[in-house]
Amino acid sequence: MTTQRQWLINGQPRGRAVTEDDFLLHEAELAPLASGEARVRVQILSFDPSQKGQMENVGYAAATGIGQVMTARGIGEVVESRCESLKVGNKVIGQLGWQEFATVSPTSASVVPDDELLTARLGPLGGTGLTAYFGLLRNGHPEPGDMLVVSGAAGATGSVVGQIGKMMGCTVVGIAGGQDKCAWLTDDLGFDAAIDYRGESVKARLKQLCPQGVNVFFDNVGGTILNDVLARIALHARVVICGGISRYQADVLPPGPANYMNLVFMRATMSGFLMTDYAAESPQALERLTAWVREGRIRYREDMQEGFERIPATLLRLFSGENFGKQLLRL
Ligand SMILES: NC(=O)c1ccc[n+]([C@@H]2O[C@H](COP(=O)([O-])OP(=O)(O)OC[C@H]3O[C@@H](n4cnc5c(N)ncnc54)[C@H](OP(=O)(O)O)[C@@H]3O)[C@@H](O)[C@H]2O)c1
Repeated sequence: MTTQRQWLINGQPRGRAVTEDDFLLHEAELAPLASGEARVRVQILSFDPSQKGQMENVGYAAATGIGQVMTARGIGEVVESRCESLKVGNKVIGQLGWQEFATVSPTSASVVPDDELLTARLGPLGGTGLTAYFGLLRNGHPEPGDMLVVSGAAGATGSVVGQIGKMMGCTVVGIAGGQDKCAWLTDDLGFDAAIDYRGESVKARLKQLCPQGVNVFFDNVGGTILNDVLARIALHARVVICGGISRYQADVLPPGPANYMNLVFMRATMSGFLMTDYAAESPQALERLTAWVREGRIRYREDMQEGFERIPATLLRLFSGENFGKQLLRL
C-alpha cells in the first residue's frame, strides 16, 4: 500500500455550527519512515466536543489550520516500525488523526494492552474519566449527603461523574435528553433520579427533586440548564463548569445566566477547570478508575459507529445528542 485516505480540515467554524463541508476527503502518498518512527493503522477514533474548539482555534488546544489532517485521539496497530519501543503488532493510543495510517514516535503514541479495556482507554479510562474524576473531586468537593446535579448526564463524562458521586455518598440527579437516556441513568447506573430536559420542565423537576437545594452542580451544558440550576443552589454550593455544549454550535453567544446573583446570596462558588491541569496526578487517578471499572462500580456505554466515510458525520452526533455513551468509530 502506497496511498491512504485522510480527512483534511476545510473550514474554520467560528461563530457558526461545524458541518460535514468543513472536511475534505484527500488521498495522500505514504512517506517512508524516518529512524525512530512507526506506522500505525488507525482502528478506533474518539470524538470529543473540544474538537470543534480546536478547529476554531479557541480554548486550550493546539492551533489547527485549513489543509491539515483533522486531529483526533485514537487507537491503532503498529504495522511497520523503525523504532525500538514500538513493535509491529503493538496496540498504541495517541493523537492519530482522521486518516487510515498515522506516523508516530514514542512521544506521540504509547503502547497499551490489547485487553477487554482497550477502547475504555478512550473513555472512562482516558480523558473522559479523568475529566469526571478531577472535575468532581477537586472542584465539586462532594460530601456524603450532598445533592449532586449533573447535566449532560448520559454523556461520556456526565455518566462517570454521577457514578463517582454515588460512591462519595451523594444523592445524584442527572439531566439528559430523552427517556431512554434517563432510564439508563436510573435503572443501570444507579442515579437517584433523572430529568429529561427535552420532555420535562427542568425548573419544576429540580424543585420537586431537590427541595433542600443543590450542593454540587457539575455542568457540561450551560445555557438555560445552568440558569435553572443556579436558581436552586444551596448555601455554599459548588458550581463546576466542565463545558457548555449548548453554545458550541451557536452563531451568536447567549448572554450569561440571569440567576448568577444567587451565587452571592448563597455564598457559592462557580469554577472552571481543565482536565490537563491534573496531568501529574493522572496515573494514580487512572489506577483508581480502572479498579472501579473492573469492580463494576463504574459502568459505561460505547456508541461505536463504523466506516472511514462516516467520520465527519460522527463528530456531528455529539452536538445533536444522537450519541448514546462515549462516541467512537471503527474505521
Ligand atoms: N473541562 C475539561 O477539561 C473537559 C474535558 C472533556 C470534555 N469537556 C466537556 O464535557 C462535556 C461533555 O463532553 P463528552 O465528551 O462527555 O461528550 P458527551 O457528553 O458524550 O456528548 C455530548 C452530549 O451533549 C449533549 N448536548 C448536545 N447539545 C446539547 C444542548 N444544546 N443542550 C443540552 N445538551 C446537549 C448531548 O446529550 P443529550 O442527549 O443529553 O442532549 C450529547 O450526547 C462537553 O461540554 C465538553 O466540552 C470538558
